[in-house]
Amino acid sequence: MLGNFVYYNPTVLYFGRGALSALALELPNYGPKVQLIYGGGSIKKNGIYDQVTALLRETGKEIVEDPGVMPNPTTDKLYEGCRIARAHNVDLLLAVGGGSCCDYAKGVAVSAWCEEDPWEKYYVRREPPDNRVIPVGCVLTMVGTGSEMNSGSVITNPVTKRKVGPEFGEAAYPKFSILDPVFTYSLPKYQMTAGIFDIMSHILEQYLTDLDDCTSDYIMEGLMRSLIHSSRAAIRDPYDYQARSNLMWTATWALNTLVEKGKTTDWMVHKLGQSVSAFTDATHGMTLSAVSLPYYRRMLPHGLPRFKRFAEVVWEVRPEGKTDEAVALAGLAAMEAWMKELGVALHLRELGVTEEMIEGIADGATILKGGYKVLTRQEVSEILRESM
Ligand code: NZQ
Ligand code: ZN
Repeated sequence: MLGNFVYYNPTVLYFGRGALSALALELPNYGPKVQLIYGGGSIKKNGIYDQVTALLRETGKEIVEDPGVMPNPTTDKLYEGCRIARAHNVDLLLAVGGGSCCDYAKGVAVSAWCEEDPWEKYYVRREPPDNRVIPVGCVLTMVGTGSEMNSGSVITNPVTKRKVGPEFGEAAYPKFSILDPVFTYSLPKYQMTAGIFDIMSHILEQYLTDLDDCTSDYIMEGLMRSLIHSSRAAIRDPYDYQARSNLMWTATWALNTLVEKGKTTDWMVHKLGQSVSAFTDATHGMTLSAVSLPYYRRMLPHGLPRFKRFAEVVWEVRPEGKTDEAVALAGLAAMEAWMKELGVALHLRELGVTEEMIEGIADGATILKGGYKVLTRQEVSEILRESM
């Protein structure tokens, strides 16, 4: 049964080849000072920095530089961004990069004018923003997180080893996001495939949940089929525009809150992966791929009809002559084969996890109740060990 819900998403998207020109349409809506947020320098190598700064200058903006956003952005970087935003009293936060830059921009947006420690208020206590919020715009260069069209902001506290991602709600959705698939051509294969698995994981967290038959399930099945097809094409040819554009659009729809409507959601794989990242600083999508198969093999008996449907509809497993369990397991085996094609991490050891870290990672993984079975703390450790 489709549950009750409100659906609203305020982010304006500009999608396609040459979409950056839309920045000239958007910029006049904001005051003169733009905090230009970017990462470790990829946008300087691939020319996107020059294109963005040219448009900022043409529209008369004062550029306040905020480089060095690391993958898995930290609390220290968040505090630095807040100091920059306050010191210059900026009018717009423009993130140019992947999910880390977009998440960080949303974090600075709500935190810059917060009168207490924003980590405690917004990330630990998860209060809704009640101070001035600076508007955010995104120019996306990496595909996967969906951060371009949601209000999530994942920040890591390296001292407490906690990586958390509250959703700030309407105030912190990007006002606009610019999505040019060509901007993703320069992604290293490791990042591209990590992003592809991140998309799959976002869908599975919302699809392998209840046993209802919702429109959202059919949308997700279409998204997964497109994702699998386009991932193979993008690996064969990283300059395949059709594949890159399908991946980009699929990522956005996987996590802009549409497909969760009417459903319960799981997110346990993400809780495990986030805790792994907090201990190792590993790439987000790879932390998810490393724990997914042990987690889903454990869930399978508790959600058998849905795992069987997943196998048949998404992986085209033929059911004839097989038990339901055999069909469902064949679906997970097909997913594993696809993961090997992508070359994503299948073991936590590959990401630097050691036996000594396991219990700490397990302590850091919040146990959620939306999946087919609520894990015990013991099972969390067991899944992590099986993932090694
Ligand atoms: O630092 P730069 O130079 O930008 O290089 C980045 C970074 O090293 C590089 N890159 C990005 N675009 C590129 C490029 N290199 C060459 N060419 C390009 N066009 O890729 C590396 C990874 O970038 P990052 O932004 O960290 O990746 P991603 O988009 O996967 O974001 C990961 C962060 O998002 C969070 C993750 O936990 C992680 O902190 N998430 C955010 C979510 C949300 N807001 O809803 C949900 C997700 O589940 C996720 O948790
Ligand atoms: Zn994710």
